[in-house]
Amino acid sequence: MSARIEVELGARSYPIVIEAGLLDRAAQHLAPLSPARTMAIVTDANLAPHLATLQAALTAAGVRNEAIVLPPGEATKSWTQLAALCDRLLEIGVERGDHVVALGGGVIGDLVGFACAILKRGCHFVQVPTTLLAQVDSSVGGKTAINTRAGKNLIGAFHQPALVLIDPSVLQTLPLRELRAGYAEVVKYGLIDDPAFFAWCEAHGAALLAGDPDARSHAIAHAVAAKARIVAADEHETNGTRALLNLGHTFGHALEAEAGFTGALIHGEGVAAGCALAFGYSVARGLCAPEDAARVSAHWRDVGLPDGLAAAGIAASGERLVAHMRHDKKMTAGTLPFLLARGIGRTYLDKTVDLTDVATFLDAQPRAGVA
Ligand SMILES: NC(=O)c1ccc[n+]([C@@H]2O[C@H](COP(=O)([O-])OP(=O)(O)OC[C@H]3O[C@@H](n4cnc5c(N)ncnc54)[C@H](O)[C@@H]3O)[C@@H](O)[C@H]2O)c1
Ligand SMILES: [Zn+2]
Repeated sequence: MSARIEVELGARSYPIVIEAGLLDRAAQHLAPLSPARTMAIVTDANLAPHLATLQAALTAAGVRNEAIVLPPGEATKSWTQLAALCDRLLEIGVERGDHVVALGGGVIGDLVGFACAILKRGCHFVQVPTTLLAQVDSSVGGKTAINTRAGKNLIGAFHQPALVLIDPSVLQTLPLRELRAGYAEVVKYGLIDDPAFFAWCEAHGAALLAGDPDARSHAIAHAVAAKARIVAADEHETNGTRALLNLGHTFGHALEAEAGFTGALIHGEGVAAGCALAFGYSVARGLCAPEDAARVSAHWRDVGLPDGLAAAGIAASGERLVAHMRHDKKMTAGTLPFLLARGIGRTYLDKTVDLTDVATFLDAQPRAGVA
């Protein structure tokens, strides 16, 4: 299966190509972008086999290329790595018209995108995402960032890629835990505004996680099309449309912060538990039928993702979790917008949520270590 989806952003429009085995054929897409100079490929050390495939394809097509291999992990999205990467790209001789390739998960994509936003006041870059999360979410839409002591993604820029190449077969080497975490972001698109896709996930999610290539390609194409539509409607997150992508993230980030960003709870796991809590809270507010919230939790349990505080290993009090939310960068003038749901596929942005009420709701949830 091969799919091509366009992100419609006027002069900044770009195609996303989704095709199993695409890495072998990447030169078809990359060679026309490459002038006589060297094409820089930035990646992390866990991607050696895929880097070898890409470099072999480029070299066979006569495209000179050079790899920059960074350490894997969230800590790579740092000032130190950004500075070192910019220096290396300048040494290689990257010019404004050149295209730098980001081969990796969201960490590599976010860092390379930001470096390319500022290198010579902006050069092009191509996303070649290799985690399910990056394939369905972070590689599309142009949000780039690094982390600082004050928090995640606080320094960054909007900088759209020139092209996104998605090869679902690279997921064969991705650890199951990372795959599941990315799957939470896939399901999120169904929960936001697409109940038929949520039903598809209920029927095919287990097969997707087990490796079914058709299920993987279908889900990626469907999720990417949804993200492309949302980004085209609200590129810079100003009219509320793009904010829908944060479903489950306000609760999720609080759980991640409580778990300590140590790897005990990875992002997609926080998002899964966070979606279950957003639906649970919507039920508590009388907005959503309990059956819909129960379906969300049941699906997370079916595929081995956490469906709430207990499964996410969180024992903290409601007040402590809400304290993490107060540091959210979306907090403005004392209120935090929440994504709530009137049902599956019926998510909306609610600016009237009282954090004390959220704390009371969280205190009533079963939690780790509490009978
Ligand atoms: N820009 C956006 O719109 C956006 C959206 C969501 C998330 N993000 C960012 O994305 C980051 C998380 O991305 P992620 O979940 O992809 O994490 P990641 O990039 O850290 O990748 C997860 C792990 O998998 C390894 N890996 C990647 N591809 C592999 C493969 N094919 N085979 C084997 N191992 C592989 C990596 O080396 C890493 O150890 C966070 O920093 C988050 O803030 C950005
Ligand atoms: Zn996310």
